[in-house]
Amino acid sequence: MKLIIDTDPGVDDAMAYFYAHAHPKIDLFALTTIFGNVTIEDATRNALWLGDLSGGKQPVYQGQAAPLAIPPNPPADFVHGKHGFGDYEIGAPLREREAEDASDFLVRAAREAPGEITLCAIGPLTNVARAIEKDADFVSNLAQLVIMGGALDVAGNVGPYAEANFWNDPHAADIVVNAPGAGRIVIVGLDVTSQIEFLASDFDALAETSPVAGGFLRQIGQFYMEFYKQKTGRLSCHLHDPSAVIACLEPDLMDMEETGLGVVTEGEEIGDLVRRTGGGRQCFVCVDVQVDALLDTFKRIVALNP
Ligand code: BDR
Ligand code: CA
Repeated sequence: MKLIIDTDPGVDDAMAYFYAHAHPKIDLFALTTIFGNVTIEDATRNALWLGDLSGGKQPVYQGQAAPLAIPPNPPADFVHGKHGFGDYEIGAPLREREAEDASDFLVRAAREAPGEITLCAIGPLTNVARAIEKDADFVSNLAQLVIMGGALDVAGNVGPYAEANFWNDPHAADIVVNAPGAGRIVIVGLDVTSQIEFLASDFDALAETSPVAGGFLRQIGQFYMEFYKQKTGRLSCHLHDPSAVIACLEPDLMDMEETGLGVVTEGEEIGDLVRRTGGGRQCFVCVDVQVDALLDTFKRIVALNP
């Protein structure tokens, strides 16, 4: 599978990265960056650094610094740390980012290999919305678009309604779930990701088998788990972004509902993902997940890293 990840790294973004990088059936050939968990500058620096640490050296295309229509929310430093990787201070990346804008690259890559590329978007959807605005065939040119975002029948994680990625750019999310054409769109939201608990002992096991990747994830995971502990009382975290990358290759781990969708763009429920009936674009929303099988896959593949 040829894969691009659009990302705002971020602790769980890094976990998703090491899954995709190590998977023998995934060709992770580029990263695009987006504001969200961190500023766009930190997102790009972190993405470059992940490629350096893993030896993957994927080219990194920088995307949008702010949402389409609302003022930006501050970076989620209380969730992911000041620069996205908990208390871990990374050095300067060894490489430069590409000159091309992320949405221009996405449009071009999809056009050059129609039907071949999976795009997995694990941050706010601003880059993807801009790609759709630039090319109405963008989603049709992909093999599939898989998104981590939204809370359909469960509570949000930035208040009662919204999930963080959709809340950070609700206008973009609404454009994307209503994208023209028949290309496949899969939504992996809190309905499934909040069922998946990754424990401190799971980080320890990864650090044991894969000192480079697992050791790094265990370090940055401490900060992330402390955030969750304040809410749940347990030192663990949810596998939000990794679940979306896993769904790219193993959709059978999910139960999906095919439905029309919209995202609320104003008022108290801003960022909420809702069903829209009446025809038009249909998406596949994940509504249930095989928790143990997903966790097994994640641990087995990340353990292939050095
Ligand atoms: C999503 O928001 C970010 O904090 C995570 O990286 C994930 O993409 C979960 O709501
Ligand atoms: Ca993310």
